[in-house]
Amino acid sequence: MAIIRPEITDLELSGITRIALEGFSIPDTVPLWFGESDLDTPDFINQAAKDALDRGMTKYNYARGHMPLRDALKTYLDKLYAIDLDPDRITVPGSTMLSVYMSMMALVEKGDEIIMISPFWPNALSAVQMIGATAVDVRLEEQDGQWFLDMEKIKSAVTPKTKAIYINTPSNPTGWVMSGEQQKEMLALSRQKGFGIISDEVYHRNLYDGSTVAPSFMEIASDEDPVFIVNGFSKAWAMTGWRLGWMITPAGMADQMAVFSECMNTGATAFIQYGGVAALEEGEDFLARFNARCMQNREMVMDIIGGHSRVHLLEPKGAFYAFPKVEMKSSGLDLARGILHSEHVGVAAGYTFGPGNENYLRLCYAISPERLEPALRKIANYLDRNDI
Ligand SMILES: Cc1ncc(COP(=O)(O)O)c(C=O)c1O
Repeated sequence: MAIIRPEITDLELSGITRIALEGFSIPDTVPLWFGESDLDTPDFINQAAKDALDRGMTKYNYARGHMPLRDALKTYLDKLYAIDLDPDRITVPGSTMLSVYMSMMALVEKGDEIIMISPFWPNALSAVQMIGATAVDVRLEEQDGQWFLDMEKIKSAVTPKTKAIYINTPSNPTGWVMSGEQQKEMLALSRQKGFGIISDEVYHRNLYDGSTVAPSFMEIASDEDPVFIVNGFSKAWAMTGWRLGWMITPAGMADQMAVFSECMNTGATAFIQYGGVAALEEGEDFLARFNARCMQNREMVMDIIGGHSRVHLLEPKGAFYAFPKVEMKSSGLDLARGILHSEHVGVAAGYTFGPGNENYLRLCYAISPERLEPALRKIANYLDRNDI
């Protein structure tokens, strides 16, 4: 194996996939491990993709995305953020994950440092590792019952090797939402120190304070700032299996992004892009219903899990995960395994979300309340009965 790059041979399964692989073979397991609901993609989205398939949308096209989807994205984003986006900044290369990786490849090289606000989604760290860059962890604080980013910690983490910062807001796994004020501070710092920003906004519509969208770097970055904004269809419109996302890059990169996208996936799958158009144009009612369900579920999690005597749980402000810290003698991985094998409920082990999270679990609360409630009660009962 010596011939294969160590950046690849060193990769390990995440604490999400490890548990899921164990759980797939256990019948009737309630999966709270992945970031998705049990809802099917809405019919009107499926129908738009089927129609496109019937119209022969199965061929090569411009690798930055089909025109109807890029037009729909411009209309959607302009309205959502009250901006006038340069359409040449939009690329649809494939999934959101691919957009995260491409943004990192655009900004960071082997040996560079990238600041990662933690707890973070483990695949973002794997992307850094595959490039051979070094992730510098800056952990959110717990302050006044909320997750909080201390900008002074970011300033002290910046070195001459810092090329970028990866920010995921609203955050998986904590539900932290970065304020518009902090985004302005971060942008000012990036301009002063000369590093790029990768803003992963895939949960931009999953919020619980009544606002329609989370504060975004879309609203404040100028066309020239080295800011890459990544987003996608998975989380707002129940489209995780579609592998469809978009990225907004600095201006003046249209040709380069076409080549880059061509070499990654030659753009997203042709006909599914029309499902994306339907989601953007007609998806608001579905989203409102989905968010209402998640809001109800969030209360249930705060009550059943957050109310347990061994658990410390901060209320998530966005996305659809709970990230409880559990008093334990062993580790989050042992606990997740115990819950899986004894209760048939699958949760992710905290260690995988970055250093300092070994005593945490992550659970996704987007599934139907009828399935969620008994699963949460089983976790609570397990904690009552097992002092591990
Ligand atoms: C923070 C974050 N970014 C990106 C993604 C990837 O999204 P997609 O499945 O659309 O590629 C996820 C998926 O869980 C995520 O949690």
